[in-house]
Order: sequence, then C-alpha cells, then structure tokens
Amino acid sequence: MSIISDSLKRIKPSPTIAVSTKGRELKAAGKDVIGLGAGEPDFDTPQNIKEVAIKAIKDGDTKYTAVDGTPALKKAIVEKFKRENNLDYLGDQITVGAGGKHVIYNAMMATLNEGDEVIIPAPYWVSYPDIVLLTGAKPVIIKCSEDQGFKLKPKDLENTITNKTKWLILNSPSNPTGASYSENEIRNLAEVLKKNSNVHILSDDIYEHVSYEGFKFFTIAQIPELKERVLTMNGVSKSYAMTGWRIGYAAGPKEIIKAIAKIQSQSTSNPSSVSQAAAVEALSGKQDFISERSKAFQERRDFVVSELNKINGINCLKPEGAFYVFPSCKGLIGKKDKNGKKLENDTNFVQSLLENNNVAVVQGSAFGLEGFFRISYATSMENLEKAMSRIKEFCESLS
Ligand SMILES: Cc1ncc(COP(=O)(O)O)c(C=O)c1O
Repeated sequence: MSIISDSLKRIKPSPTIAVSTKGRELKAAGKDVIGLGAGEPDFDTPQNIKEVAIKAIKDGDTKYTAVDGTPALKKAIVEKFKRENNLDYLGDQITVGAGGKHVIYNAMMATLNEGDEVIIPAPYWVSYPDIVLLTGAKPVIIKCSEDQGFKLKPKDLENTITNKTKWLILNSPSNPTGASYSENEIRNLAEVLKKNSNVHILSDDIYEHVSYEGFKFFTIAQIPELKERVLTMNGVSKSYAMTGWRIGYAAGPKEIIKAIAKIQSQSTSNPSSVSQAAAVEALSGKQDFISERSKAFQERRDFVVSELNKINGINCLKPEGAFYVFPSCKGLIGKKDKNGKKLENDTNFVQSLLENNNVAVVQGSAFGLEGFFRISYATSMENLEKAMSRIKEFCESLS
C-alpha cells in the first residue's frame, strides 16, 4: 500500500518552479544562464512598507491574529475595493491568506466535490488545474488561441457550461500571456454567466496593477447581477513586489468566506502578523511605486516584443499587462538544432534553447497551449538585451 495519497498522485509539481530549479542548477555548475522564468517582480518591496513591518516587530505585533485577517487589514482591503474598483464589501466578505495561491486553494477546497467541473481557459496559470484535481473535481479546459488574443469567447464558454459546472476561473491580466479583458469583453462573458446561475466566478486579479497605458482594468464583480457569485482574489505579491511576504486576499459571498476561514482555522491559522501589518501599509500608504514600476515594465515589454518579432519563425502579441509575453515558436518546430536534435515540440524548443544558448524560458504546453513559450521580462534591461540576442542566435542556428 502506497504511503502517498491518491489525491496527490493526480497532480504534478509546478513546471515553472522546475524551470527555475534547472536554471539555478546550471548556474551553480558555472554556466552563464539568463533566467526568464521568474513569476515575480525584480524590484524590491518599497521602503515605507518594510518600515511598517519593522515597527510591527518592535511593537510586539508578533502573536496569533484573527484566522482570516486582522480587522485593520480587512478594513484596508474593503477601502481598496471601494477606491479602485468601486465595489462595496463588509469585513465579513473578506478573507486573507498566505498568498493568492493559498486563497485559491482554500476556496476550491471549501466548495468542490468529486465530479464538479471547473472551467479554466487556456493558456492558464499552472496551479489552477492541479488545485482543482487535488479536490477530486474536474478541470475543463477551453483552449483560447492566439488569433483570439488568448481570451475566452462567450460562445465557447456557453458551449462548455454543464449542470456540473461550479466555477469559471478568469485571470486578467493573465499569467502566462499578459492578455487582459476589456470591460466590453467581460460584459459579453457576463451575458452568458447571467443565464447560468450554477456557475460561480473566481476572478484572479493579482496582476491588476501591472497594466500599461491605455488599458482600463475592469473586474467581473463590477457587474451587479453577478457580484453575489464572484470571488475576487487579489494580493500584494505582484503589485507591491511582496512575493516573499505571503499575503493574498479575496472578497465575495459570506458563505464562501466563512467556509474558507473554517479550512484555514484547521490548517495554517492566520497569515503572518508582521506581513499583515506590512500589507496594510501597501494598500493604504502612498501608491506612486505602482506607476513608476509599470513604466519600467512597459519599456521592457516594448523592447522584448519588438526584438522577438524580428526573428524568423517567432510571432509575439503585445499584451496589455502582467510581466509576461507568450510568443509562438510554431514556425521553428520540426527544425534541427546545431547538435542535430529535432525540435518536435515547444518542450524540445525550450530545452535546446537552454542547453545551447543558456536562456531559461517555460514551454507553452505547461500552460495548456502547445507551440508557444513564456518569457517573464521581470528582469533588468541589460539581461533582456543579452537574452534577446541569444534567442535570436539560437533561432537562426536551427536548420
Ligand atoms: C495568475 C496568478 N495567480 C495567483 C498567483 C499567486 O500569487 P501569490 O504569490 O500571492 O500566491 C500567481 C503567482 O505567480 C499568479 O501568477
């Protein structure tokens, strides 16, 4: 009899973490690898946030807190939703966990039974299907092609919903594509969802503040007829360069929020008291960091997209947000690398790129769409310049 549970056997370790590990191993072995796999901003947490955390430690803010968030943090989150999204919530409609991933995990654990279905548009963030599989429910993937901007079409959503569908997961701006839904696109999806009252919507807004000029962020809870069925997840990880602090939160129906607290009370208890104090400052303190940082990301995006599109066989859309691009390498599949190895698919492509030209990226198939790869441009311009010339050299070496 295996000591490992059946539910664990259904899932695989995160492929994005696997790429970072491989890159680190090669670096440790003395190779000059440029890692474009990271899912975190390269900026440091702003100083005002760090100082509040230091003060919290000095003031003895070091004990257990309320399981699903301190009153101060919940208040800051309520105010954030009002200020930035014009959404009204009360404290008992808010939950705080140890990162956005934790909140999603708890929400799925709290609501899914075996046989339930969760619709996940692909390309998707790698953890969604595995979290759903852990619960015993079924991820139902809808592939969203490059020519539809990697975004879900209302018709495809309508055709995929069944009476077993419990959740639709929406993520905008998206990891891995950066694609972001306009208000109009969300309204069109909402028309389908209004007709299907069994479907709840998990809106993963973690990249809300990583979006570029001309794009106006809109979230599906802003549609009054749906608000009661939407769990809006967000966090400080990406917006405030706080990935290591582990604070994520969500707002939504009281019943789900209460169920999440129940799970948390029997598993992790509260997220770190010090991190919660820091998150209050992130959400309520000065916000100029966000626009300064977005400007730097936008410059990098423009550079990366333009360099990639100069390469024969590569095609790259220009996304509205997040810090990823998702270029197609379909034009190079079937070619051979300089060692004579045939590139049968995107996984071969990224492996060969890493082995021959020392650039670590992630294959599109890890995100549910083959023939692409994900580049994270959350790294210095200097690294990006080097990486782009290596990718070009690699692609030109294929025959
Ligand atoms: C789309 C998406 N959702 C959620 C998360 C989780 O964020 P956190 O670090 O707050 O757990 C990530 C992190 O990579 C992400 O890319």
